[in-house]
Amino acid sequence: MKRVSNRVVSRRGLLQAGGGLLLSAALPPFPARAISSDGYRIVAAPTRARLAGADQTETDVWAYNGTVPGSLVRLRQGKPVRLLVENRLDQETTVHWHGIRLSNTMDGVPGLTQSPIKPGESFVYEFTPPDAGTFWYHPHANSLEQLGRGLAGAVIVEEREPVAVDRDLLWLFSDWRLTDEGRIASGFGNRMEAAMSGRVGNTVTLNGRVSEAEPFRAGERVRLRLVNASLARIMALRFPGHRPVVIAIDGQPCDPHEPAAGRILLGPAMRVDLVFDLQGEPGERYDVIDDFYNGLSYRVTQLAYDQGTVRRHALDASLELPRNPLPEPDLASAARHTLTLQGGMMSMAGMSGMNGMMRGGMMGMGHGAVWAMNGLSMTGDGHAGMEPALTFERGRSVVLVLRNETAWWHPMHFHGHSLRVLSRNGKRVPHRQWQDTVLMAPKDVIEVAFVADNPGDWMLHCHVIDHQMAGMMTVLSVT
Ligand code: C2O
Ligand code: CU
Repeated sequence: MKRVSNRVVSRRGLLQAGGGLLLSAALPPFPARAISSDGYRIVAAPTRARLAGADQTETDVWAYNGTVPGSLVRLRQGKPVRLLVENRLDQETTVHWHGIRLSNTMDGVPGLTQSPIKPGESFVYEFTPPDAGTFWYHPHANSLEQLGRGLAGAVIVEEREPVAVDRDLLWLFSDWRLTDEGRIASGFGNRMEAAMSGRVGNTVTLNGRVSEAEPFRAGERVRLRLVNASLARIMALRFPGHRPVVIAIDGQPCDPHEPAAGRILLGPAMRVDLVFDLQGEPGERYDVIDDFYNGLSYRVTQLAYDQGTVRRHALDASLELPRNPLPEPDLASAARHTLTLQGGMMSMAGMSGMNGMMRGGMMGMGHGAVWAMNGLSMTGDGHAGMEPALTFERGRSVVLVLRNETAWWHPMHFHGHSLRVLSRNGKRVPHRQWQDTVLMAPKDVIEVAFVADNPGDWMLHCHVIDHQMAGMMTVLSVT
């Protein structure tokens, strides 16, 4: 295929498709459409999906390549790729490659790193993923509605030496707010919700449908790549009867460890890779539970031992993934800064009215902002024109103290960098752990460190999209 060097190309230029699929047999769902051996074509367009199951109502959704979630994009570490994104929505869009450390012009923030892709137009994203792991992609324009209507997909960057497993599975979760008729409820951007937990939905899908059960075989070892693609729903997953081991967080390998109390916290935009052995017997079923919201626990799916036995004794193989080439921050010489999260309803007690909102942190809030960082609010999807909250010289080691002064949870996402999580509330994090999306409980104080080695203006925002839109966003600049 002819190489398209300009970023915005016409639709006619896109149609010379060809080439083989970059897919392995181990991961069946949603093959991306390869346009050549080093490229993909991804079309954002309205379509319909049966979220609740085959014989259920169809829902109007917006999707990448006609499925929710969108095409799985499989890349190789260190190998350049071109992704041609075609906009067939009736509004502007962009794609953000969440968690991938790429150059600033490919980051997908409209007005800041690129012009938005207009309806009928396309944009070619080109980058070389430095890190292997589990990532995802989603729009960064009108994000609340575009993500809330289904635009999201996973990106898997393959390790050169993956851990040995029988199956490598992807579980991408989406959270929908459906009406009784099975339509996506309108009312995106409700100010009251934005000041609280955001638009939490009423229907959780696993790979695009409500899941009754997922088939497994006794004795097999699986890698499970969890992606939380919801707007606002935080999940706390438990696998009773099983002992999952966390091997990577936000795509970055960590010291393999069992999660505290067997509970895997997965905030919006976070990824966790698990490995575990299926220790049940043929015919058995085990619930997978999400019990994050007090009193609202529900069954996400069941592990169904439907398919015979693979082996009697667990595999004896290392669960350690090869590390990614992340620069280690020099803590002794690091620049230290504090970012304080402010605003929102004061507490659940304040829910009866808006009076409890925003005592303190009001400074600088305007344009519908109900949240702020260090007294400043940037609203919307990201744009140029706001002074960066912090500016770093390229190559500088940085320690950031993130202080959540609010009564709410916030998954704080940093574009362009992965951050080493050093401590939570004064306690050292015991496992080597890098994240691009750091989930903060109310009142949490979390210390992170990174090397500001990626030049450009980078968004930093809460990934509860209502919070982002309503002010919990800023820019970090690396010059
Ligand atoms: Cu996944 Cu700025 O977002
Ligand atoms: Cu938030």
